[in-house]
Amino acid sequence: MSNKPIGIFDSGVGGTSIFKEVHALLPFENIIYLADSKNAPYGNKSKEVIKNLSVKNTDFLLNKGCKIIVVACNTATTNAISYLRESYNVPFIGIEPAIKPAALNTKTKAVGILATKGTLSSQLFHKTSDLYAHGIKVVEQVGEGIVPLIESGRLHSEEMRALLKVYLKPMLKANIDYLVLGCTHYPYLIPILTCLLPKEVKIIDSGLAVARQTKTILSERQLLNSEKKQPDIKLFSNGNVEVLNTLLKGKFETSYLDF
Ligand code: DGL
Repeated sequence: MSNKPIGIFDSGVGGTSIFKEVHALLPFENIIYLADSKNAPYGNKSKEVIKNLSVKNTDFLLNKGCKIIVVACNTATTNAISYLRESYNVPFIGIEPAIKPAALNTKTKAVGILATKGTLSSQLFHKTSDLYAHGIKVVEQVGEGIVPLIESGRLHSEEMRALLKVYLKPMLKANIDYLVLGCTHYPYLIPILTCLLPKEVKIIDSGLAVARQTKTILSERQLLNSEKKQPDIKLFSNGNVEVLNTLLKGKFETSYLDF
């Protein structure tokens, strides 16, 4: 069992930001990554549709023999992970916006969060936000249009810069000192965001925390791969594989798959 792969899925290419963290922390683990780019973005879909797509992705990964599923998508986690945990007998690791560290560390008592509509409107997000962000101004911003630009290979475009400027404006007005990235596509924006934000504003995402949690759960269940050899890593996309290759700098084996 321990040499079975870790399964990771996202609505598209964004979850590769999590895949990279998982691979860096667990370099001997075999991994299968699934980018459901054909159905991206998930962010504007109903909870029911997000749940159904998450089930389809999980079935795909379990059919490939995965021992654990990393839901590398805030939108799928906040809308579907409790259903997935109830429905399957494998461990699931999810990702949620890192509102807690931002709320605990802010000096200006104002933090920004950029995420999809599906995440910001979810019960799970509100529960976490209510729990940790007491007395703190949380400027929530839906990142409408960002995921489609990344999925179509326009990450470093003028359109993206213009969009981000608009989204950051209310946050800067509120004097935020933390920006929480609540979507796994967004870590790829960090170089652009760094140019647009004052240097006092810290950007946080949950990628490393997810990788650490994956390691903890695998270790607790004695599922860490004991074979210390070059792992077998495969990434599948039902969209544009070139976009995947660009983000991964061509370092991993990728294939198009019609699913
Ligand atoms: N990567 C997904 C997330 O973390 C993307 C959202 C989308 O497809 O809209 O929420």
